[in-house]
Amino acid sequence: MRVTVFGTGYVGLVTGACLADVGHRVMCMDIDEGKIARLKAGEIPIHEPGLDTIVERNVKSGYLEFTTSHRDAVAHAELQIVAVGTPPDETGAADLQHVQAVAEAIGAHMTAPKIVVVKSTVPVGTCDKVAGRLAAVLGGRGSDIGFEVVSNPEFLKEGAAVGDFQRPDRIIVGTNSAHARAVMAELYEPFNRNHDRMVYMAPRSSELTKYAANAMLATRISFINEIANLAERLGADIEQVRRGIGSDPRIGYQFIYPGVGYGGSCFPKDVKALARTAREAGYGASLIEAVEAVNSRQKMKLFEKIAAHFGGEAALQGKTIAIWGLAFKPNTDDMREAPSRVLMEALWAAGAAVRAFDPVAGAETLRLYGERPGFELVQDKYSALDGADALAICTEWQQFRAPDFGEMALRLANRVIFDGRNLYSPERLRDDGWTYFSIGRATAFPQAQAVEQPG
Ligand code: UDX
Repeated sequence: MRVTVFGTGYVGLVTGACLADVGHRVMCMDIDEGKIARLKAGEIPIHEPGLDTIVERNVKSGYLEFTTSHRDAVAHAELQIVAVGTPPDETGAADLQHVQAVAEAIGAHMTAPKIVVVKSTVPVGTCDKVAGRLAAVLGGRGSDIGFEVVSNPEFLKEGAAVGDFQRPDRIIVGTNSAHARAVMAELYEPFNRNHDRMVYMAPRSSELTKYAANAMLATRISFINEIANLAERLGADIEQVRRGIGSDPRIGYQFIYPGVGYGGSCFPKDVKALARTAREAGYGASLIEAVEAVNSRQKMKLFEKIAAHFGGEAALQGKTIAIWGLAFKPNTDDMREAPSRVLMEALWAAGAAVRAFDPVAGAETLRLYGERPGFELVQDKYSALDGADALAICTEWQQFRAPDFGEMALRLANRVIFDGRNLYSPERLRDDGWTYFSIGRATAFPQAQAVEQPG
């Protein structure tokens, strides 16, 4: 079948490419002419494993086309998928201007009935707003062509987006229209073969499902981080506690890894937006607000540990801290809301310098911070350590899991590691003469071991 996808960002490009790959005829539209020109030339603007080959294959076969023309995009298909960005505006609300601009373009150019599928993450009620805008534009044209607006949120994880799209846990379709349901079923049929993953519901339920899913996952992370902070103070080891609670199938092992807080393009934005939506609906969502507050605090954790170790913020003046891992998580170059940024900015504010390494997010970090005094990017993990006063780890890239500690000791000025991802065994590092700080493990505090023993 024929499909149009608006927006060639993360979600749009993955969606378009994966739909083309199963034999749909897909046209991806973006107003950014430079981006479309690069895509036509086979250049992928994001780092996503497997995406480049799928794009290349389908551009070559003609199943995936790119355009900057609204007219062509609207004419291409009955199905019009909206996957444009909804960044938070200055108040933290999702900015719907791009979504509404697409609605207007569809309304202005359509000459036959359309199904408008909202895939961008949008506040509850947006499908109704899009329908209102479309109706207004059509009314202005004196047209009574029919349309449906469907909510179809995505649940892609960066770094695993292609696999997530091809093997979805569920496909949420929010619509009250039988026709739209049938068309959506046909669209996703290739991904829905072995057991039925389609979950149909009303548009508002679908819109809320997306926020509820992300808020739930973010809650698990803030929860475990809070318990980790408590474990440090109580002389417990969060890794043992994590395994202890994860073994309960009602809790499970996923998404209870303590760390330096969640980042990325979804959790921070969606948690804030949901809290805001709640306030607007006259409900103070205290749990959701706490999830966000705990996370902001957690992003300062490594800095606090570093400052405490060196004897206060003032003592960081002139120090150099090596950082391994800048991306908000492994296998992506995405730096949005990355905990490393909070750490680096705090270090710079305290007068320290940063020498950083990341396997893929280097270029993106240079774009953000290349001009900053006190920032140096290096090309391999060991060079980051040369003469540095300590190492801080922000992202759990595979290549950091079993480094050559001998080599590290030779290069660093001090054998000190601040590990934001609990990659190493505290006992082993202690025995090797390292001062090792991690998250939620009391063993990480050699000086602060004075847990009162009864008697
Ligand atoms: C997330 C959701 O997983 C996805 O379903 C949704 O569509 C978009 O948001 P993504 O942002 O790509 O995907 O990242 P994810 O892998 O979920 O990780 C989010 C953040 O949580 C990362 O910063 C990660 O380091 C952190 N995290 C995750 C933890 O700190 N602990 C955990 O146990 C899991």
